[in-house]
Amino acid sequence: VTQSVPVIAIDGPSASGKGTVAQRVANELGFHYLDSGALYRLLATAAMRDGVALDDEVALAGLASRMDIVFKGEQIWLDGAPVGDELRGEACAAGASKVAALHQVRAALLAKQRDFRKAPGLVTDGRDMGSVVFPDATLKIFLTASAQIRAERRYKQLKEKGMDAKIADLLQDIRARDERDTQRSAAPLQQYPDASLLDTTTLDVDQAVKFVLNGYQCKAP
Ligand code: DC
Repeated sequence: VTQSVPVIAIDGPSASGKGTVAQRVANELGFHYLDSGALYRLLATAAMRDGVALDDEVALAGLASRMDIVFKGEQIWLDGAPVGDELRGEACAAGASKVAALHQVRAALLAKQRDFRKAPGLVTDGRDMGSVVFPDATLKIFLTASAQIRAERRYKQLKEKGMDAKIADLLQDIRARDERDTQRSAAPLQQYPDASLLDTTTLDVDQAVKFVLNGYQCKAP
């Protein structure tokens, strides 16, 4: 039954704007939304909270399967308590990128992600949504933008949240994360052949959302 529930999978590098686009598309279609990166960020948060080393694969996989995660609109709850803005911070992103490289961690989070596939449909963003988690997705998009533009967008986003940052530092972080996400052996970030490329370097959010909605209309039954 779940196989017939449509999925729009949007994969791409850090700070490409895929979260914003995916959320908007989900709203337009009245679909559920899964920010899969949040699961890796939550695991990094839980590990730091519990004093688990970010390279202890067995302990992290156990922690990943025990995590109780609830998405309440914009808010995310972990093990009965709301998680704050630190989930979007650079320290958490760097930790997420480390734990995400571990095979057993990815395996432990697989079923959790597939549980989000519910009628009338799901829009999800991450690195391997269209390749590993939902290989039968109705529409697959590889959403990217130049590293410089991504650093500038992340800078604006952090500023709006009242957090301090330097563009040069953000650019360095983004490049390091790109490197780790594309070079790892477990589900590396890559533009797989059945995904449509959406380069947003010179596009705004509205244009990117339109591209995805048009693509979906062409594929939807
Ligand atoms: O999309 P994001 O920046 O919130 O992701 C945080 C980290 O999690 C990123 O470095 C890569 C990892 N990730 C992943 O490996 N697979 C996903 N489906 C989503 C995120």
